Amino acid sequence: PSLLQHTPVILLKEGTDTSQGIPQLISNINACQVISEAVRTTLGPRGMDKLMVDSRGKATISNDGATILKLLDVVHPAAKTLVDIARSQDAEVGDGTTSVTLLAAEFLKQLKSYVEDGLHPQTIIRAFRTATNLAVSKTKEIAVSVKKDDKQEQRKLLEKCAATALNSKLIAGQKDFFAKMVVDAVMSLDELLPLKMIGIKKVQGGALEVGEDFLDFSFALWLCFVIFPVLHPLSTFSVRCLLQACGGSIQTSVGAMTEDTLGQCELFEEVQIGGERYNLFKGCPKAKTCTIILRGGAEQFTEETERSLHDAIMIVRRAIKNDSIVAGGGAIEMELSKYLRDYSRTIPGKQQLLIGAYAKALEIIPRQLCDNAGFDATNILNKLRAKHAQGGTWYGVDINNEDITDNFVACVWEPSIVRINALTAASEAACLILSVDETIKNPRGSVDGPPGGGRGRGRAHAH
Ligand SMILES: Nc1ncnc2c1ncn2[C@@H]1O[C@H](COP(=O)(O)OP(=O)(O)OP(=O)(O)O)[C@@H](O)[C@H]1O
Ligand SMILES: [Mg+2]
Repeated sequence: PSLLQHTPVILLKEGTDTSQGIPQLISNINACQVISEAVRTTLGPRGMDKLMVDSRGKATISNDGATILKLLDVVHPAAKTLVDIARSQDAEVGDGTTSVTLLAAEFLKQLKSYVEDGLHPQTIIRAFRTATNLAVSKTKEIAVSVKKDDKQEQRKLLEKCAATALNSKLIAGQKDFFAKMVVDAVMSLDELLPLKMIGIKKVQGGALEVGEDFLDFSFALWLCFVIFPVLHPLSTFSVRCLLQACGGSIQTSVGAMTEDTLGQCELFEEVQIGGERYNLFKGCPKAKTCTIILRGGAEQFTEETERSLHDAIMIVRRAIKNDSIVAGGGAIEMELSKYLRDYSRTIPGKQQLLIGAYAKALEIIPRQLCDNAGFDATNILNKLRAKHAQGGTWYGVDINNEDITDNFVACVWEPSIVRINALTAASEAACLILSVDETIKNPRGSVDGPPGGGRGRGRAHAH
């Protein structure tokens, strides 16, 4: 009603589209199904990539849920919520964006019949919040933590987590190499692990091969000022990095140069990598930074590699801060599903059905992993259910042999925080979409509507 008071004009305008009530909810749910259809085949190690071409003809190949959704340029207001939530997962933990989208859409799909039957959305939302809380505490309970003091153990953990994140990417073939490199890169940072201190530079040409040596930016800034413009203009990124790494400050002329405006580094050298020349600043005293140089043929390829490395870097940072892990490949989802199903049997009424629906929806992750690999999903899921009922907590899909396996032993590890975040984000998205029962749209072609009207409604803001 408040919307009506604030924007009466929109309602009066000819062509304004309003729809409300159950049909509106159902149509929003359907829109979210369409979104999940768009990304579902990209999930997991056997997932496919998408090639997207924008209006300017620029082609992008990606497996990253957030990137795909961003490029899809979704206009449907409810579906856009889902896109925003997936992107919030990307910002928060970097990985797991496809999972969030699939889970949220599946939650809604399982609920659809209850909505059609006239069950009040608030009842559903309440049940979902309960289920999410239960699932999160269960995840925390069963997550395994690896001792931080043991450096070797920690390193192993980090590499495994990075490898799991890279499994589903274009560069999965070289995942061990890249996992090691990502861990090295993150470990070379200082305690706060500032993401922006890891630079990724892409050089065209050559096979995708990675400069093992990290280019430590450290340097005297006047040097930069004098030398760089000749070579190539400095990007703001490099300037910022350089300033933080070596101290010094930006001078507009060499006239007033004093001791304290200068930064320092131990060694400055210029090397040729591919077609470009690079300035390396080694042994910088102030901050720890590093740069990864990627060389590859097609631009699309190096760009996707950069995105994949970003996922892995985020995962490693997460895993350093929080060392508890769970097994992936659908294992954690199956375990939570079992737990919630058992729990739902102990409570009466609608809540039982709804929590049961939540439990069922969790199975989408292993199911989709199977589907994408061409496995018989029903068969594998039956096996998994049976195994989890017998206490096989970490059993998940074995992607190499059409079977199930203990994914903890198989080292398909993921930081538990990633899964927790994915679950909460997905259920928030589902609840948000359920709580919208009316959409009011400006007629098309009208000059920019007032803020808050039409398109923007129901939009989630990432937290
Ligand atoms: N070796 C493996 N065997 C089985 N499952 C695996 C393996 N490696 C990764 N997975 C699973 O694949 C899923 C992750 O797939 P993917 O990386 O495509 O999607 P995402 O992480 O949800 O989203 P995105 O990476 O696009 O942000 C997780 O459920 C993970 O447990
Ligand atoms: Mg991933």
